[in-house]
Amino acid sequence: MTLLDAAKVVRENAYAPYSRFKVGAAIRAASGRIFTGCNVENVAYPEGTCAEAGAIAAMVAAGETSIVEAFVIADSPEPVPPCGGCRQKLAEFASQDVRVTLCTTDGKARTLTIAELLPGVFTAAHMDRT
Ligand code: THU
Repeated sequence: MTLLDAAKVVRENAYAPYSRFKVGAAIRAASGRIFTGCNVENVAYPEGTCAEAGAIAAMVAAGETSIVEAFVIADSPEPVPPCGGCRQKLAEFASQDVRVTLCTTDGKARTLTIAELLPGVFTAAHMDRT
């Protein structure tokens, strides 16, 4: 299955009764394995989680920590970019040149690198004063 297909399939499972905006994410880890996630909302709105966060959690739970490619899909007029928090989450596990493809359910797509998604990323180096 392609990353796009995996993102499409998992999007169907999104739990989004409040926004009615279903999102699917699929990431390929360094081993080649694909991990997927969907948004999971909560009646206490801030407790909801994004699709990207779910896919990253599944990858880490399986013992992997390196993303080599990612796809995100939603039913939006234009490819929806990941939220700010998800950009930082992706950057934690992906190098600057990793490609993130943003897709709509009707076939539009836009590919950006992690560097393009999050210029000025906060890294561990920013905590190093030695
Ligand atoms: N959402 C994601 O899952 N990923 C994104 O990158 C953007 C937003 C979800 C969160 C919420 O459940 C819904 O989309 C509307 O914001």
